[in-house]
This record gives sequence, C-alpha cells and structure tokens, in this order.
Amino acid sequence: MNTPMLKTENLMKTYGDLKAVKGVSFEIARGEIFGFLGPNGAGKTTTISMLTGLVRPTSGRVLVDGEELTARANHLKTRIGFVPQELALYPTLSAYENLKFFGRIYRLGGKELRQRVDAVLEMVSLTDRAKDPIEDYSGGMKRRVNIAAGLLHNPEILFLDEPTVGVDPQSRNAIFESIEELNRQGLTILYTTHYMEEAERLCQRVAIIDHGQIISQDTPQALIRSLGGGLLRVGLLNGKLPAFTEAALRLPSVKDAQRLEGELMIQTHESRQALLELLEVANRMDATITSLEIHEPNLETVFLTLTGRSLRN
Ligand SMILES: Nc1ncnc2c1ncn2[C@@H]1O[C@H](COP(=O)(O)OP(=O)(O)OP(=O)(O)O)[C@@H](O)[C@H]1O
Ligand SMILES: [Mg+2]
Repeated sequence: MNTPMLKTENLMKTYGDLKAVKGVSFEIARGEIFGFLGPNGAGKTTTISMLTGLVRPTSGRVLVDGEELTARANHLKTRIGFVPQELALYPTLSAYENLKFFGRIYRLGGKELRQRVDAVLEMVSLTDRAKDPIEDYSGGMKRRVNIAAGLLHNPEILFLDEPTVGVDPQSRNAIFESIEELNRQGLTILYTTHYMEEAERLCQRVAIIDHGQIISQDTPQALIRSLGGGLLRVGLLNGKLPAFTEAALRLPSVKDAQRLEGELMIQTHESRQALLELLEVANRMDATITSLEIHEPNLETVFLTLTGRSLRN
C-alpha cells in the first residue's frame, strides 16, 4: 500500500581504493521533497548517479516504487527525471531548440514534443525568453532550462543535483517556486544541496551525508530541536580550557560541551543564558576569552555539531 517512491538499501560505490559512498539507506515517500545535504565531496552526486541508473552500485539496491532499478529496467528509468549538476546546453541555440533536442532523446516528437516543451518552459517561468539563445542567459536562467529538460518526459520523481549553485537571487526564487509548484502537483523530489537554509525551506525530510555516510536523517525541525538552544564556540587564552570545560558542563544552561581544535563547542539549552553564565565562569577563573561565536539553532549548526566542521569553508 505505502510503497515508497524511492528506496535505497545499503548503497555503496568504490572507485579503486576510494569509498565514495559507504552504505546509504533511505526512503522517499510519494509526494515528498527529500533533502540530501552534504559538503563538497560527501558523495551526493555519486549517490544520485546510482539512483538514476547512470552509475552501477558496487553493492546495494535501488528500488523505484518497489521494483529494483537494474540496467535493463527502462520502464523504471522513464519514471525518473534527472537534473545534473553540470549544465549541458548548446549556447548558440535557444532554450526552445535545446529542449526540443532533449525531447527527441526521450523519443518525443511532433505535436506532443512541442506541447511538452511549452509546458516545461512555463513550469520554470521562461516562456517569455524561450526564443533567445542560451548564451544570452544568466547562470540562473540556464539552470532553469536544465530543470525544464529533466521534466520533459513527465517523470514521477525528479532528482536535482545542486540546482542553485552560481544562481542569482531572482532565479533562485524562481527555482524554489517551480519546485514547490511541481511538488504541489504531485511530483516527488530529491533535492541535493550544501545550502542548509534551502533545505529548511523546501524539504519535508533531510538526510545529512558526510564522507559517504548518512550521519543523520529526520525532519529539519526535529534535527534542529535535537540541538536544544543553539551552539557557542569559545576560544580561551593559555591552558585554561580543561578547567573551563569542566565548569561549563556543570552549568544548567549547558547541554554538552566538547573540545575542538583548541576551542570549546558548547551545546546549550538556551544560548543567551548560557553565554551570561559562561562569561561569569571565565571571569571567576580569570580566563581570557579570545574568540566567541554564537550559532543559532539551524541545520547548519546541526551539521557543525555532528561533524565538528562547518559546511562551507
Ligand atoms: N568517477 C570517479 N572516479 C573516481 N573518484 C570519484 C569519481 N566520482 C566521484 N569520485 C570521488 O568520490 C567522492 C564523492 O564525490 P561526489 O562527486 O559524489 O561528491 P559530492 O557530494 O557530489 O560533492 P560536490 O558538492 O563537490 O558536488 C569524492 O572524493 C570524489 O573525488
Ligand atoms: Mg556533486
């Protein structure tokens, strides 16, 4: 009854000695926008390539609507749309002509092809500019043509690989609105990004991937709630860090604290209260604070807490 639109079971991919994806399992329900988040090199594109059948998994399985995606499962591949990270458009041709070209790859032709091209141009709000050559487009407009190409054959699930990288704010909004509208019409979406605020806005559930492994998955709200009240990162002068850590851990406003590269990362129940108490502790110990960062609770902070690293550096 409730067969997931997409399911992966312990998906792995190795390139020689490199384990690019180390056993990834998740499910996407029909009609869901699922976020796949991770820093550069985390294994996002490799995973998507296996989901679309472009790259064969070293081990593990991909199930589309309950059926295993194998090399020969062309009837499943036609139910999948893919918007790759790299653009592949002919610069001298118009968006309309580019899309007609892609449509022929999907074996569309004649009136049906023209209707689909018109429909997908509408979906990404490019109808007005459809006849202009691609070389006159902004980066964001090219991205939108790319998305339109992935929609031509009317897929049930769409994989988007970082669709907003290098995109101006106006196009970014147009992309968000298209995605939300397509989802309202029933399209299931896997959305890959390293922008946490995008995932917070768009996705019903997210998986955070790092070094080829999913380190957490849930709704953005639940992930953020698990953090408590935000994160403080404190640097101290000359050897007082161990004593300061002990004192911090005894404070009621502090949930947890761990040392990281000579600084203290403090998970709080409430960051402002914790900050006041920590300043008092530092004062009492006669410790000099050399750096202080306050991270509000959001997905970025979730990532920082889980990995000890910032997503964008
Ligand atoms: N064809 C390949 N041959 C060898 N190594 C590869 C290949 N494709 C990817 N890798 C390696 O696998 C790891 C994961 O790469 P992948 O492209 O999946 O990451 P990503 O999360 O998409 O990163 P980005 O955010 O930069 O796009 C990286 O270490 C990458 O160098
Ligand atoms: Mg990638």
